[in-house]
Amino acid sequence: MDAYLIEGGRPLRGRVEISGSKNASLPCLFASLLTPGTVRLARVPDLRDTKTTINLLSSLGKECRQDGLVWHIAERQALGGALKEAAAPYELVKQMRASVLSAGPMLARWGKARVSLPGGCAIGTRPIDIHLDGFKAMGARIEVKGGDLALTAHKKGLKPCRYRMKFPSVGATENLMMAAALIRGKTVLENAAAEPEISDLAKMLGKMGAVIEGAGTSRVAVYGVENLSGADHEVIADRIETGTFVLFAACVPGSNVLIDRCEPRHNEILLDLCRKTGVGVKTAQGQIEILTKRNFRPKAITVKTGVYPGFATDLQPLWMALMARARGKAIVRETIFENRFLHAAEMNRMGAEIFVKGDTACLQGAPRLSGAKVMAADIRAGAGLIAMALAASGLSVISRIYHIDRGYENLDLKLSSLGVQINRFTEVQYRRVS
Ligand code: EPZ
Repeated sequence: MDAYLIEGGRPLRGRVEISGSKNASLPCLFASLLTPGTVRLARVPDLRDTKTTINLLSSLGKECRQDGLVWHIAERQALGGALKEAAAPYELVKQMRASVLSAGPMLARWGKARVSLPGGCAIGTRPIDIHLDGFKAMGARIEVKGGDLALTAHKKGLKPCRYRMKFPSVGATENLMMAAALIRGKTVLENAAAEPEISDLAKMLGKMGAVIEGAGTSRVAVYGVENLSGADHEVIADRIETGTFVLFAACVPGSNVLIDRCEPRHNEILLDLCRKTGVGVKTAQGQIEILTKRNFRPKAITVKTGVYPGFATDLQPLWMALMARARGKAIVRETIFENRFLHAAEMNRMGAEIFVKGDTACLQGAPRLSGAKVMAADIRAGAGLIAMALAASGLSVISRIYHIDRGYENLDLKLSSLGVQINRFTEVQYRRVS
């Protein structure tokens, strides 16, 4: 397992270009299952999760070809729409929960889908009951067979429905929107998620021939059709990577970073909170500039995570890294996932003073942090530890960075271009230095 070695305390200076959104590109890639036509998807980030998704699409009869950052997804002619086994196997689902997003397209296209029940993960049990209740509302039958979910459409096919989610689940909204796009008639999803990734998927489904109203609000109406065509689409900028670089720069005094090819309006809450801490924030078309004075320590600001446009749960570990050096006491409340403070103990090894009780973390800001050996528990916890290492004095070693590879493209190259002293090495090399 690879690790990062980071020498902290160096201001971040320069320009960084944001990649395409992981959480937009995954559903858009799965949407290619809805059509025998060719889909060309641009700005797909080169991540472990992208590779996992491509493997799954290939196992489902798609010919996938990469041309730079554009993926061409076509259907193997021999397939002709009759698939031997519309299944997302455990080996792929356990690598990436988002494989569940293949269920809606498979069910709508082939009338059946077999998806391994995703296990939980570090941040929570992450059930999929909202997805499944939606498929039942569309007339699907669901059985559990040997750890897999076997979904079967009614012999007359899925039917349009009105379905109210008990929680605005991002994945369930995406899964059900994709299924509804191939159901003739009007399907309404109420209490739907409103994240920008939902709007981006709706835009792509529209190019394929569906009519979707209200994407980006809590009520989405999908007018599905008999057949969808291929389409060309470019995914949006990654708002979580954007927020990650905003907070990397905010954590280190004396920084001046231009974040380019991003979408500032997708990070409004974060930028307002950063301004309240005393971080300098300027925005322009597609750009955010972050400035911190020498010897800067942020004002302690309390935050609560929430669904979009609230404060993104994926940026919570990074916010905690910023508050670790705050002047005063900050409270962070996590309302989306039930176990998303695994990074707190690791941060305390670097000099943070964090006390966690239930869904709330209390941070007493410390004047300085010190480098240490720490371990990433998930994608964003790993990013939070990098933010700590950038601000800490001395060397830090962050292990299990395969988590980070799932969500960030060329992260070490991007940080090096901003003047950060970061090296990636294998466990063998790591054991030699430890
Ligand atoms: C998406 O996960 C993102 N992943 C997550 O990003 C992100 O943290 C999350 O949305 C919230 O914004 C992708 O888009 C690939 P949810 P998803 O369904 O769809 C509960 C990252 O680091 N729930 O909105 O799984 C669930 O347990 C990842 O990029 C149910 O109870 O999130 C959780 O508590 C981490 N039943 C809450 O809802 C369900 O059927 C939010 O889950 C579905 C969800």
